[in-house]
Amino acid sequence: MMQYIRQRLPSSATRTTLCALCAISITLLSACSSSNDDSANETSAGTNPNGTTDAGGNTDDIGNTDTGGNTDAGGTSTDSLAELPNPPLSEPPSENDEPIAEDANLSSISEFQVVRDPGPRIPVVLAPTLTQADFDAGPLPAVVITPSDVDPNTNAPPFFENLTDVEAVAGEQLEIIYKPVDPDGDVPGMFPEELPPGASFDDNFDGSKTYRWQPLQNNVGINEFTVTAIDPLNSQYRTVRTIRIKVELPEDLSTIPNVAPTLEEFPLHTVRENDLIVLELKGIDLNGTTPSLELVSELPNASFVQHPRFEETYTLQFTASTTGLLNIDILARDSIDSSLTSVNSVVLSVLPSADFAREGVRLKELAAARNIQFGYASLQEFYHRPDGGIYAATAADEFNLVTPENSMKMDQVNPLPGRYQFADIDNLLSFAQFNSMEVHGHPVLWHRQLPDWIQDAAPESIEGHMREYIVRLMSRYETSINLWDVVNEPIGDNGGFRSSVWFDAIGESYIDIAYRQARQTAPDATLLLNDFDISFNGPKADTLFTMLDGMIDRNVPIDGVGFQMHVFSDFDQFDEVRANFQSVADRDLDIYITELDVALSDGATFQQQADVYKNIVEICLEQSRCKAIQTWGVSDQYSFRRIFNPLLFDRQYMAKPAYSAVQEALSTQ
Ligand code: G3I
Repeated sequence: MMQYIRQRLPSSATRTTLCALCAISITLLSACSSSNDDSANETSAGTNPNGTTDAGGNTDDIGNTDTGGNTDAGGTSTDSLAELPNPPLSEPPSENDEPIAEDANLSSISEFQVVRDPGPRIPVVLAPTLTQADFDAGPLPAVVITPSDVDPNTNAPPFFENLTDVEAVAGEQLEIIYKPVDPDGDVPGMFPEELPPGASFDDNFDGSKTYRWQPLQNNVGINEFTVTAIDPLNSQYRTVRTIRIKVELPEDLSTIPNVAPTLEEFPLHTVRENDLIVLELKGIDLNGTTPSLELVSELPNASFVQHPRFEETYTLQFTASTTGLLNIDILARDSIDSSLTSVNSVVLSVLPSADFAREGVRLKELAAARNIQFGYASLQEFYHRPDGGIYAATAADEFNLVTPENSMKMDQVNPLPGRYQFADIDNLLSFAQFNSMEVHGHPVLWHRQLPDWIQDAAPESIEGHMREYIVRLMSRYETSINLWDVVNEPIGDNGGFRSSVWFDAIGESYIDIAYRQARQTAPDATLLLNDFDISFNGPKADTLFTMLDGMIDRNVPIDGVGFQMHVFSDFDQFDEVRANFQSVADRDLDIYITELDVALSDGATFQQQADVYKNIVEICLEQSRCKAIQTWGVSDQYSFRRIFNPLLFDRQYMAKPAYSAVQEALSTQ
């Protein structure tokens, strides 16, 4: 049995979180380099949807750098396209990439044949978050969080004695005693961050606590464990320490106990009675094996099958015929010792169909009467989610234009050279066709969600790869998708061109080349340039108009601008939106509001949110070149800004005041 007490510093993410805890100073004790500084660079006002949404000040979370200054948008460009690479730089799609029929008991859709990508899953290899080098760097210093009303000279912070990093072997029972000390004499409080499965943090009732953990095969590598001590006189005065625990396999693997498997946590979902429900459940075995799952509960006409592509996943499909809270018991069985099992519960909230009924006229019908489309961004594989039924019904009732939120991103479509995944896009097209919706292609080119292979490609090959990808994606859907975000977010946060694989390798002309290639591939499609923070005055809008003018001067084929409009409920720059829309119209281009969501600012009301939606809809209606309004999702449940509840429907698919406000705005001539 080992007894250790150690000290360390939390990850930068923890530091950032802690920094947000209170208006306080952060002291990194001992050897912390200034390079750990988490200070964010200012971005333009508004919301940077690529990073955390900002109330001013958060920076883009993907470290965008841009060329700065007002580079002449568009730069030089050729009036005609060179031949595509021959032979191709990478294999084009083949029949091996064609999606195949999915078993009917794997999805919540019965109206048309759902398809799935063939072949094995492409392994998502996540780089280890901590490496041996991190461990060898030695224990990290503590972080002391000092509120502005505390003087450390008169009230010293609590600290942990003798905390260092730990080395262990899988199967060993670790016992690490934490005894916080306060120089002023009182006993500090203490709490741990997230405990790994099976671990405990037990009170010894003498001011100390013992961390008990038995690492197993799944924990081999460098692990972290964080504990915070709380000053007895001021609960915001804290000392945060994390130890690193290196776990290795023992020479004799039989010394590692075989523990019972469990079920991956499955959050509570709201579903609608009489919908076809699909649960994709995964077993977890800390010994690194794959357990089998068995349905214990009696569910009428249910099917429960192991997924044909993903061995750790079992799909339960049944019809929710009774309302209320539904507990479903699932048994997980060890793959080595079948007597080792656990029974786990999954809970669903089944609501009566009547709860989802809405008054008034559907948004798509109201919009059509005003000669615009009303659309949304579709959750990836919504038909494999428990609430896929109510999700699809709400979308089909209210919208007639749909954008794939993530299914068409390059790392999903073309994850490896010569490997393509079209199934989710094809399913969305089937859903759209079945429900008389148009599909908005998004994105063709973006700086995010790019597969490693394109990021690692030789710069001189990027233009060829880019053009091949444009042709392969857009030609597959040439007759089914007539609206495309050809280049998404080309403008840097401070104006100028955003750094990307495309810009960095090709230069400014990548935009011209992309639109020329898009027009050549899909001559009848509407080609948009889509970006955020361009609907109000600022460096991005300035660059937009410079870029558009350059493209127009060079006869680059572009048909319109997508204004994403990820805003907050305190947004009030409506006159600037009108003016920028008019500036686009003055260039004989169309306007699409492509990703509208209105995040609730601190303390804001749903009515304030509704007012912003109403204003933006009215601005579109008064602008004849405004062709569509799309919200970036259906319900708050799956919004990428979920914590801000930004959409028209809440997490239980109930219409919010914003929905009624949009109805009213669309109805008012
Ligand atoms: O699919 C993987 C899943 O296998 C994995 O388990 C999970 C956890 O790592 O990640 C999943 O991928 C996530 C993906 O959304 C699908 O949920 C990515 O990590 C996550 O980064 C991605 O976020 C999307 C983001 O674009 C980046 O692509 C958001 O959902 C999506 O709303 C957002 O949409 C963008 C528009 O395309 C462009 N305009 C801005 C807008 C907001 O950033």
